[in-house]
Amino acid sequence: MTPTETKIADTTTPPPFRPFRLVKFFSFTGLAVFLVCTLALSWLITNHAKRVLLERSEAYSLVVAENLGHQVFQQFVVPTVLRYGKIALRKPEQQQALDKVVRDATHGLRIQSVTIFDSRQNIVSYSTIKERIGRTGLGGIEYQRALERQSSSRLNSRGTVLNLLPGAPKIFSELHTFIPFVQRTTFGDRPSPIMGVIEVVQDLSEDAEEIIRFQVYVSAILMVIMSGLFAVLRFIVAKAERIIENRAEERRRLEEQLHQNERLATLGKMVASVSHEIKNPLGIVRSTAEILGKRLRSVAPGNEHLAAIIVEETGRLDGIVREFLDFARPQVPKFALASVNDVLQKVSQFLESDLETHHITLVRELDSALDPLSIDREQLYRAFLNILMNGRQAMPEGGTLTLRSRRQKGGQGGVVVEVADTGVGIAPDKVARIFTPFYTDKNRGTGLGLAIVQNIIEGHGGQIEVESEEGRGTLFRVTLPRR
Ligand SMILES: Nc1ncnc2c1ncn2[C@@H]1O[C@H](COP(=O)(O)OP(=O)(O)O)[C@@H](O)[C@H]1O
Ligand SMILES: [Mg+2]
Repeated sequence: MTPTETKIADTTTPPPFRPFRLVKFFSFTGLAVFLVCTLALSWLITNHAKRVLLERSEAYSLVVAENLGHQVFQQFVVPTVLRYGKIALRKPEQQQALDKVVRDATHGLRIQSVTIFDSRQNIVSYSTIKERIGRTGLGGIEYQRALERQSSSRLNSRGTVLNLLPGAPKIFSELHTFIPFVQRTTFGDRPSPIMGVIEVVQDLSEDAEEIIRFQVYVSAILMVIMSGLFAVLRFIVAKAERIIENRAEERRRLEEQLHQNERLATLGKMVASVSHEIKNPLGIVRSTAEILGKRLRSVAPGNEHLAAIIVEETGRLDGIVREFLDFARPQVPKFALASVNDVLQKVSQFLESDLETHHITLVRELDSALDPLSIDREQLYRAFLNILMNGRQAMPEGGTLTLRSRRQKGGQGGVVVEVADTGVGIAPDKVARIFTPFYTDKNRGTGLGLAIVQNIIEGHGGQIEVESEEGRGTLFRVTLPRR
């Protein structure tokens, strides 16, 4: 397809207008983004809280374990060796002495249990939990690390948000810290020998539960805040969309109007040139027919009416051509101070005999105290002639045509002219269309009369209104302001 072809296709069949649903687009993506943000944020916050708690707890456990090691060495190892020669924890009295030292040292501290492993085998030599004593393999990798003089911790935990529900198993969290149990006496540069490994267990269940609870609070609060934010944003976006839509609608309307105006302008130019071309030959036809009529009287008496028909019809054609020209080439009004009543008098005088033949009574109610206005008499004459002619045409069976003029109420010396007939009236759905060019329901009408009238009145800064009742009559009200 060549570019020209595309253009033609575009102008002839405009693509269907599919509005971009901003709100819809925003709703889904926005909600998703807000949800992800909320979850990520609450995860970040609680994770940080967890890390801080763990670090603190670990540091605490380390201090406790160090201190415990010290106490055990000073108050158990040294006195026992002095008294019995060597340490043998199988003996109940030594076991009891150690237990006392450990319990004294950890009394009142947040420590759940203490276990001391042997340094040669992964075997429990002592524990505050009696069942563990003598068991092997409980140390794990942390035990091995402690033998290499490295302290380390392991967190045993279980539980999620669901464990907060009533009836669910409790949240559980234990921090196991392992440190080497070293002999506190140093001989020269030699590292103090490792006597075993101390395991200290801290119960963090309550803190873990607290953190999970906190996570729920944070999530809930964030959800509320984000929902609020989302609602506000959605409201703004919805409003923006409405504005954008209205603008687009307005633009479409203006474009349509512009096209219409362009079409009308082109049409007007065409009509004007054609009408202009017709006007002169029409004049010649008319005057020739008049001459012909006179000749016929002597040549073929009784046939003069044939020429008269030509004259009459050319007169009508001339009227139509004039209306076309008036519409296509509206003249710029030439304003001068004049009396509106004078114009109305002239129009009604011109129509008087015509109205009489159509059995129409003309009633004039002209306010004689009107101020002169700055008007184009010629144009107003044509405008009122059009309105009155329409009135006459609306009363084929005769009736009353009322022509009224009065001072504009509240205005600064403006004039209101009313033309009322007792004719056929206009159906409500047609009222809006009668000012549209070429709208007519008459066989021999052009539909330009009221369009021209409206042009003229608006050129005077005035306005024209219509009130009509089908079968009762019509009233045209023209308001001409003082300028
Ligand atoms: N006084 C009236 N009573 C009833 N209908 C009217 C009256 N004036 C105008 N109309 C309606 O408005 C249409 C347009 O009027 P106009 O623009 O003067 O064109 P035309 O007179 O050539 O039809 C008329 O065809 C008629 O249907
Ligand atoms: Mg008319």
